[in-house]
Amino acid sequence: MKQKYYITTPIYYPSANFHIGHCYTTIIADAIARYKRMKGFDVCFQTGTDEHGQKIENKAKEAGVSPKEYVDEIVQNAKDLWKSLQISYDKFIRTTDEFHEKAVQKIFLKLYEQGDIYKGEYKGLYCTPCESFWTETQLIDGKCPDCGRDVHEIKEEAYFLKLSKYQDRLVDYIESHPEFIQPESRKKEMINNFIRPGLEDLCVSRTSFSWGIPVSFDPKHVVYVWLDALTNYITSLGYLSDNDEEFQKYWPADLHLVGKEIVRFHTIVWPIVLMALNLPLPKQVFGHGWLVIDGGKISKSLGNYKDPREYIEEYGVDAVRYFVLREVSFGNDGTFSIDALISRTNADLANTLGNLVNRTISMAHKYFSGTIVNKNQQELIDKELLQMITSLSLTVDEKMNHLRVSEALEEIFEVLKRSNKYIDETTPWILAKDDSKKDRLETILYTLLESIRVCATLLEPFIPSTSKEIFKQLNVEEHQDTFLANVTYIVQEPKVLFARIEKK
Ligand code: MSP
Repeated sequence: MKQKYYITTPIYYPSANFHIGHCYTTIIADAIARYKRMKGFDVCFQTGTDEHGQKIENKAKEAGVSPKEYVDEIVQNAKDLWKSLQISYDKFIRTTDEFHEKAVQKIFLKLYEQGDIYKGEYKGLYCTPCESFWTETQLIDGKCPDCGRDVHEIKEEAYFLKLSKYQDRLVDYIESHPEFIQPESRKKEMINNFIRPGLEDLCVSRTSFSWGIPVSFDPKHVVYVWLDALTNYITSLGYLSDNDEEFQKYWPADLHLVGKEIVRFHTIVWPIVLMALNLPLPKQVFGHGWLVIDGGKISKSLGNYKDPREYIEEYGVDAVRYFVLREVSFGNDGTFSIDALISRTNADLANTLGNLVNRTISMAHKYFSGTIVNKNQQELIDKELLQMITSLSLTVDEKMNHLRVSEALEEIFEVLKRSNKYIDETTPWILAKDDSKKDRLETILYTLLESIRVCATLLEPFIPSTSKEIFKQLNVEEHQDTFLANVTYIVQEPKVLFARIEKK
């Protein structure tokens, strides 16, 4: 039986203005999901949209439509964006899906009945025009940070989740499961800055707006949006529904991939909810850094970005995917710029990969009319490259198992670079002049084709369209990520994979 692998992205706030930073989590999750599928895992890759809350309610009001009409329209935008990035999700959950709403109500009731949720009073500073609660420290000059108007203290009846009860258990768990929060720096931050100073019980219902899932036994309350959102990871699998087969199969998640600013919700609130439900915790929460522009977060209000589809149209989907996956060392912030995207595409995709494929296939045509078999005339000079090809799959696996996506790509490109150097070292154009060297020449081209085939196989999770095109040109169907001694290549006409881009 195949080993299961359940990977999730956060569910996105539906928006008409996604930027490249939003694509970051999802592109990485997609590369990991594709990689695991390639390695034979039974993968469930989930993403979706987080559609409740006051902000959405306000936006719908501004647009003069109901919240549901509003989200229905923009959810399509997320799906279109994922399609243009070739995101291979298996499940797309919307928090407005009926099965989700029902399961959230059941979870809330269960926690209430067992005493982990209780009714209390929420005290806060309230801005009436914005319908928002603020804490003292969030105020700017004592006024609402959003609109600058006066706030006043308000008391509201609300339900609370007993985070405090689980504090010690949570710390024990985190400390005894070193892989649970990654990277290490985020773990320290969570324990020292948030958990150890003491967890306060969390307000998990609101009465100040109505666009949310009503608490079944007290419907003037709606469920707090983070509780609603986090539970998506289990409701989508049928938890507490008539059919929980998928839940039994896929839970616990192998990886929740999230941006660094929401690690807190995923490593404090979510595990406590799961502990209270007596369910196992996800195996890992990985908090990645942000894509930034000129040191600052990409943001709508700064107007420092374009719709990612514009980049895809201009540079191609794989150039965008490759840039995001390669440029940022995982866990840290990385900088997005068109200049850097062009440089990466030219250096790696056009020069290293594109040239190697083009030169090799052209030589196969020129010297052997396109048909190449292994003539087994290896020489000492082939040794290093052959070793690199043979060990590549293991090296990449080791990197991917630690989510070092950028480094995995770097390893593959080392082999591609070494292959280009091998052409310069073995000088096929000189051998071609000597009839007695024909078998040696064919062996060299065979080695190069094998290098390309192995690299293209391992590149498939990252830049799937390019790999597909390479397989087409190599005219091979079976993809194995190791050197094979007896493939018969009848290669197709070479086509340029990536044209060099001129900087404007
Ligand atoms: N709805 C919540 C998540 C609930 S999960 C139970 C949310 N949504 S979001 O749309 O604001 O963000 C979705 C993901 O995009 C998050 O992982 C967030 O970190 C990521 N990014 C948004 N801007 C980003 C960058 N500039 N760079 C990298 N990732 C960033 O949070």
